[in-house]
Amino acid sequence: VSRRQLLGLFGAGAAGAAVGAAGGASVATALANAAGAPDPARAYAFHGAHQAGITTPAQDRLHFAAFDTDPSLDRDGLIGLLTDWTNAAARLTQGLEVEEGGAVGGSDYAPPADTGEAQGLPASGLTITFGFGPGVFGAGDGASDRFGLAARRPPLLEPLPRFQGDALVPELTGGDLCIQACADDPQVAVHAIRNLSRIAFGRATLRWSQLGFGRTSSTSTAQATPRNLFGFKDGTANVKSEEQAAVDEHVWVAASDEPSWLAGGSYLVARRIRMIIENWDRVQLGEQEQLVGRSKGAGAPLSGGTEFTEPDFAAEGPTGAPLIAPTAHVALAHPSANGGTRMLRRGYNFVDGNDELGRLDAGLFFLSYQRSPQQFIDVQRSLAADGLNEYLKHVGSAVFAVPGGIAEGEFVGQALFA
Ligand code: HEM
Repeated sequence: VSRRQLLGLFGAGAAGAAVGAAGGASVATALANAAGAPDPARAYAFHGAHQAGITTPAQDRLHFAAFDTDPSLDRDGLIGLLTDWTNAAARLTQGLEVEEGGAVGGSDYAPPADTGEAQGLPASGLTITFGFGPGVFGAGDGASDRFGLAARRPPLLEPLPRFQGDALVPELTGGDLCIQACADDPQVAVHAIRNLSRIAFGRATLRWSQLGFGRTSSTSTAQATPRNLFGFKDGTANVKSEEQAAVDEHVWVAASDEPSWLAGGSYLVARRIRMIIENWDRVQLGEQEQLVGRSKGAGAPLSGGTEFTEPDFAAEGPTGAPLIAPTAHVALAHPSANGGTRMLRRGYNFVDGNDELGRLDAGLFFLSYQRSPQQFIDVQRSLAADGLNEYLKHVGSAVFAVPGGIAEGEFVGQALFA
């Protein structure tokens, strides 16, 4: 069923409304429950209380892009860009081209409005999520406040502090604006970023981007837990969209939080984490499990039980040693080690060729959504003692304020400019 046939069958509005009627995540979840495996025709509503792509059941593929705004861009130009991005994203997520007739339209003298490679492909669960980096709010010196937004900077939106072991590459770090495109078809995700980058021409330039395959997290209890490139189940203890109280407490910026324009939004942390998998693959199974704190097969905590049993960090083995080592990843990342903090993880595996030693340039493109960047900072600091670090290298890093959702007729981030 092609995009056009699909729309002919259901109508663009109906396809979107089917998912959006009862509001974003909950209906998306219902659909996931009903459908089980990803349904290529699935279209998530673009409009709603929150941006899609956060509590939406994690799709299989990712194309993430961070942009620098061009020096000539001013406030009106930024609003124009966000408006154009909004209009395109609202269509793309429903399986439509960038513009009506975009792929085939245009005169003989102008390139088509849509690049065309998603023609014939259904919506594939595409979500497009936008965020603002610290640079949008100036450098705090007034002079660089091109958009007149310095006074509206979220006090918590600062470049992340340096963490122990960071080996950040400037070209893979930071960005004024970000777009997360997730879909169950990689061509659909890439098509979205390609066309949104093209729309930004002369206004914002791609700084870095990341393709991801194989989600490393579940964001819905209806999803089976996937595995990361260490071969372990990842996402077991994640915040799931069905945990409404936890989502409200740990993921969404509340109306009572500062600044009020970010209510219903979240903070996104992106970390490109190289995994030295060749070294990992020489580690004995028992040691791998000790480093994670869970069994490799079932993903059960080493203190016993099955995958979803709560870990018991006090449980001891016959020698009196804790069954889950205090330096195990789950011990240090667990809320009990971090003042109760949780986050919604939404990362992806990546393999980007190989290095000069013939090792795969592979890893985890870690994405997490939280009500405050401090949640990530606290857990990442706790992970300084993580035994896994011997096999990890953080090479890219960025943080963004992700505004709340919008109604039809608004542009993404509109509340920031009110
Ligand atoms: C849990 C792997 C990086 C935060 C887990 C689990 C695995 C895992 C296998 C257990 C299953 C689960 O509950 O999802 C990895 C790998 C990483 C990595 C391979 C790097 C390549 C990070 C980072 C953070 C983080 C950078 C945040 C700073 C967490 C949290 C949990 C978790 C909060 C749940 C802990 C719990 O409540 O039990 N991770 N992780 N992880 N990880 Fe990571």
